[in-house]
Amino acid sequence: MVNPVAVTERYYDASVWPDRIFQSVSEDPATQINLSWRTSGSIIDGYVEVALAHSSSLEEGEIVTQPATVQQVRYENILDHYFKATLLDLKPRSNYMVRVGSKDHRSEWFQVSTAPQSFQPFRFLYFGDIKENIREYAPRIYRQAAIGYPDAKFMVHTGNMVNSAATDDTWGEWFYSGNWLFQQIPSLAVPGDGEHRKIPGKNANMLFPQWNGSFHFPQNGPPGLKNLSYYYDYPGIRIVSLYTHFPSRNTTEDIYLNHEEMVSEEQFQNQLRWLKRVLAGNNQPWLVVIMHHPVFTARKDRHNELLQQQILPLLEQYKVDLVLQGHDQVYARGFNPDPERESKLPVYMISVAGGEMQEADKSHTWISRQYENSQLYQVINVSTNTMRIDAVNLQGKWVDRFWIRRDENGTKSLLQ
Ligand SMILES: [Fe+2]
Repeated sequence: MVNPVAVTERYYDASVWPDRIFQSVSEDPATQINLSWRTSGSIIDGYVEVALAHSSSLEEGEIVTQPATVQQVRYENILDHYFKATLLDLKPRSNYMVRVGSKDHRSEWFQVSTAPQSFQPFRFLYFGDIKENIREYAPRIYRQAAIGYPDAKFMVHTGNMVNSAATDDTWGEWFYSGNWLFQQIPSLAVPGDGEHRKIPGKNANMLFPQWNGSFHFPQNGPPGLKNLSYYYDYPGIRIVSLYTHFPSRNTTEDIYLNHEEMVSEEQFQNQLRWLKRVLAGNNQPWLVVIMHHPVFTARKDRHNELLQQQILPLLEQYKVDLVLQGHDQVYARGFNPDPERESKLPVYMISVAGGEMQEADKSHTWISRQYENSQLYQVINVSTNTMRIDAVNLQGKWVDRFWIRRDENGTKSLLQ
């Protein structure tokens, strides 16, 4: 057991009111919605109230109440309660009004939506690292993206939404930044190094317990890595989330998922077997992988041999279209530069959403386009024959745009 660190000041205290309300993507987006929230430890039960959305006064008989499960999250010298509920048996392509909380302390009513049952053109948003100065820089990008593309069906966060500064405030700032957008629009997220913090007195770091408190992703991942690795089927697309924060040859630090469980080589191998099965079993026309550490780096003096040797061959073998990544804090996209390869797919992308931006190393041969010193978000427009990817700045202008085309036989090509 790690000794709690005394914290004298805390700016995002939990209270009896629900906060950090979050919608994670669910296993069946047409009929299920996953919600979570936080309270102080004094609130011991919670529930969700749900009704089909309309604009009139609510009648009591139309509200269904569903209890939530509660999980204690101990962190530093604090103990908070995190609640989770999955709304089941919803109607496809419908709007619901929901509120969360407990008897005397409930949230506002807010609106959530289910997916259609079959593929219709849609778009989603992708955000790279946020990481530093979260409160100053992150709110604007989430707001601009949501105002620019209010019909986005979900958001992808490729890790380092927070940073390893060992306080709960890093999470407080992130939830403050996304605010009610995180309630209304569901998200996928994958942890980066920033979602791990140093364990006092040990040469090791550990996944923040807030991760499993707040996030409620499809529980279809490999053993030991559930809620970190998972896949999500939205009609038309499969998105596979991969955990990549494994000890590398460059670091001697151990990595823990909780106080007892250390990340092991066995887990990496389990994930590889699982990845193979999940990629091979895809029935959707589009296939996307998200992970924090990039397969090809855009920075100087970084190498991701483990990913290139063990993950890349599977991405190519199973014809992944697009790989969305973070970590390098620049914008870059391109493809495997191996001259033996004919296909320019998958496209590998790195982007940065937050205020700390780095310089790219321009000598990398895999990069087709790069962009520096700009907070960007990406809009991925998915239709039957085309996936169009736009990298957009905070003025709403796209700085990069490319297409992946799919012909009648399902053969894909890159257009740029
Ligand atoms: Fe990172």
